[in-house]
Amino acid sequence: MTQGPLTTEAGAPVSDNQNSETAGVGGPVLVQDQLLLEKLAHFNRERIPERVVHARGAGAYGTFKVTADVTPYTRAAFLSEVGKETEVFLRFSTVAGNLGAADAVRDPRGFAVKFYTEEGNYDLVGNNTPVFFIKDAIKFPDFIHTQKRDPYTGSQEADNVWDFWSLSPESTHQVTWLHGDRGIPASYRHMDGFGSHTYQWNNEAGEAFWVKYHFKTDQGIKNLTAEEAEILAGKDPDSHQRDLREAIERGDYPSWTVGVQIMPVAEAATYRFNPFDLTKVWPHADYPIHWFGKMELNRNPENIFAEVEQSIFSPAHFVPGIGPSPDKMLQGRLFAYGDAHRYRVGINADHLPVNRPHATEARTHSRDGYLYDGRHKGAKNYEPNSFGGPHQTDRALWQPVAVTGVTGETVAPVHTEDNDFVQAGNLYRLMTEDEKERLVANLAGGISQVSREDIVERAINNFRQADPDFGKRLEAAVQALRG
Ligand code: HEM
Repeated sequence: MTQGPLTTEAGAPVSDNQNSETAGVGGPVLVQDQLLLEKLAHFNRERIPERVVHARGAGAYGTFKVTADVTPYTRAAFLSEVGKETEVFLRFSTVAGNLGAADAVRDPRGFAVKFYTEEGNYDLVGNNTPVFFIKDAIKFPDFIHTQKRDPYTGSQEADNVWDFWSLSPESTHQVTWLHGDRGIPASYRHMDGFGSHTYQWNNEAGEAFWVKYHFKTDQGIKNLTAEEAEILAGKDPDSHQRDLREAIERGDYPSWTVGVQIMPVAEAATYRFNPFDLTKVWPHADYPIHWFGKMELNRNPENIFAEVEQSIFSPAHFVPGIGPSPDKMLQGRLFAYGDAHRYRVGINADHLPVNRPHATEARTHSRDGYLYDGRHKGAKNYEPNSFGGPHQTDRALWQPVAVTGVTGETVAPVHTEDNDFVQAGNLYRLMTEDEKERLVANLAGGISQVSREDIVERAINNFRQADPDFGKRLEAAVQALRG
């Protein structure tokens, strides 16, 4: 900000910022006190709607660098050369809490990365978990209602959480993951990130591949126990946000090694799991990770509201060489985010400094709307035109996907080894004895708060189907707590 006197919004000098204008000493306040009215009115409008999920978060800028050749798989320009660097902005978040909620809670963490590429912004809007609770976007609003505040009590209710999870057995894998040690990361720096969904990469020759993204923390995984988190959440609700900012301020830049699992398109139909089912991982023995990049965060935002609260990420923001898969959850998300941005930040949200392309410019024929900044000046606002306006490339960003059958409200295809419990059981059996004990204690702590026996029994039964030992221990732990 330039030096000089305090001014009104219109730039006129302010004579007194302590006393409002009155009719005589001790008399009523005058409407002509423009400064007073302007300050009160502006203050009333400081908030925009918080994100309906992932409201609580922190962000930072950084750099992504290519470390290995992936051009046989994708023609994305920002991945075209080893050594190439691209600016990124990353927003971490929790899911269920409101804007002022504590960071140290058991909840998935959002891991949303914006790559400012020369072909436009590529957003990878992932989590710190490789899977999710549900596999069809039509269930998302119901699911989130159970995680948020109950319409009557105004609090999160164990009844709602466990009623929904127990009635949605496909959630068993993610619920097991969430109640394990990684369910409460010690900080945003000490956790991995995942694209979670399957996405499409396609190369110059037009060949397509299915990929899953992995971001492995170079800081090492560090978690909090339920007891540690309870204390930290009370003592320092901003713990994760503060940790990230302070690490960057002291030059201790967090980084992640970035990779993809790659599945040739021809293998998808016969793979043992449905590769587009977000409740499943692709075991690394089936598809190893190809490490191809390094991402470092090295610059804090200067203004949290402008750069973090107003930042927008959309799974529909692709660049040439990268596209969606037919994952039903992802397909729903392709609509939901842009819609949320238009409501939450406004139709010109893409024009804000944090959101607009940094390595190219957006050339559209869209115009006007609230807070339009006139960036297009006098350029024609239609196409085709004879005035040298921007025009289409005739090349799709991604390759077409073969489909068969008729339309209908269909269940996703079930592959040979698919069911709702197999990978939850595998995860349980991978755990050490100590990890299993903490997992069971964490789950029992939640389930034991449920008021109805039928919900408790149904919840336990899902884990029993994942692994009989898992179910037996959980039943005993819940019984011990419920008395
Ligand atoms: C059909 C399922 C889903 C729907 C409809 C949905 C919808 C939304 C909406 C409306 C927002 C708020 C966006 C905003 O106001 O800017 C949001 C935020 C977010 N979602 Fe989802 N979501 C879904 C599933 C997922 C999944 C599976 C992941 C991760 C793999 C995910 C990760 C995130 C993240 C990281 C944010 C915060 C982005 C930011 O930092 O601004 N969501 N979601």
